[in-house]
Amino acid sequence: MKIGVVRERAPNERRVALVPDALKQLLGAGTEVLIEHGAGDGAALPDSLYEAAGAKIVDRATLYKEADVIVRVQKPDGDDAKSLRSGQSVVGLLQPLFDPQLMAALAAQGVTAISLDAIPRTLSRAQSMDVLSSQANVGGYRAVLIAAENYGRYFPLLTTAAGTARPANVLILGIGVAGLQAIATARRLGALVKAYDVRSETKEQAESLGAQFIVLKSVADASGAGGYARQLTPEEQVAQQTELNGFISSMDVVITTAQVPGRRPPVLVTADAVKQMKPGSVIVDMAASALGGNVELSKPDETVVTDNFVTILAPTNLPATMPAGASQFYARNLSAFLLHFLKDGAMNIDLTDEISAATVITHGGAVVQEATKKALETAN
Ligand code: NAI
Repeated sequence: MKIGVVRERAPNERRVALVPDALKQLLGAGTEVLIEHGAGDGAALPDSLYEAAGAKIVDRATLYKEADVIVRVQKPDGDDAKSLRSGQSVVGLLQPLFDPQLMAALAAQGVTAISLDAIPRTLSRAQSMDVLSSQANVGGYRAVLIAAENYGRYFPLLTTAAGTARPANVLILGIGVAGLQAIATARRLGALVKAYDVRSETKEQAESLGAQFIVLKSVADASGAGGYARQLTPEEQVAQQTELNGFISSMDVVITTAQVPGRRPPVLVTADAVKQMKPGSVIVDMAASALGGNVELSKPDETVVTDNFVTILAPTNLPATMPAGASQFYARNLSAFLLHFLKDGAMNIDLTDEISAATVITHGGAVVQEATKKALETAN
């Protein structure tokens, strides 16, 4: 089986699906690896490193012609999608629910589309393949570093001959994978950290990393299916925003990470809350996208500075800002995933397998994954 690694084309995407260190296991399992010329450049991984690890460097046309499986980070754009051929598989973060029409087009082309963001995360044998967690981890780390860069003061308590700098007060809203890494990173930088989530089980996790957990009187536990949060009712949302305002106003840095599967992210920081913040405060909205984010005033990939000098950042692809580290984790997840599918030197698509049933979106000329089928019905 030939695995082809493309050079990502999406704007600002610097990650690469496989890194040289991840090739050994795949090659050992009898696969060949083709790398599109320059695929690792954005992550400072030159072709020579891939060659030394046993891969063959090819141009784009050869890659699409020869590879049995195309692996990538982002979903293919128009031209890339058209270059895929019948019988070929494509594996990446395809976001089928955001673009079900692309999946329908790939099905019609006879392409097997497999999406890593659909991995059943709570299944213990799928944990080594969990790209959402590995990339959220990178995101949480980078969010704190970006906040620190934009905050015009120290994070730690510093006592110097020139005076004392008090530690920054950091609030993390949403304590999933990204939030936990954000707590740990802000603590390592010496900040005082408070954290809040609607799932009460996160209290212990946040505290074990040195954060003070905020309990809101107005909102009860909102744990939902699969370890995720459920969407709050409109009344709960207003009560939550109002009570959070009291905490936000005294913070120097707020990092928001709250998501609810398949829904618009909840607004946790209102324009009113920002008005009450001190000049020089920084907010990083990790949930920002075209659909909206956790911060009412955030704009995806823009820096907003309010009249009261609060800086609001909304980076939409934080993992790509740490391309080598993020790619290393992504590649480890991806190779574990590919090895799961590999049987007798080919991709074995067995839809009775739990991991395949969740992640194989199109196969045999049809959309086969249930959630994507429903999304298509709604879209049509
Ligand atoms: P996510 O990215 O979907 O959401 C981030 C956080 O935002 C979650 O902790 C969620 O509870 C919180 N949130 C949602 N609405 C909120 C609101 N209105 N106010 C405050 N917080 C709100 O979550 P992520 O990081 O992808 O994973 C969440 C959970 O999924 C994990 O903590 C875990 O329970 C489960 N999970 C389990 C895994 C495993 O068993 N191996 C792996 C990954 C995740």
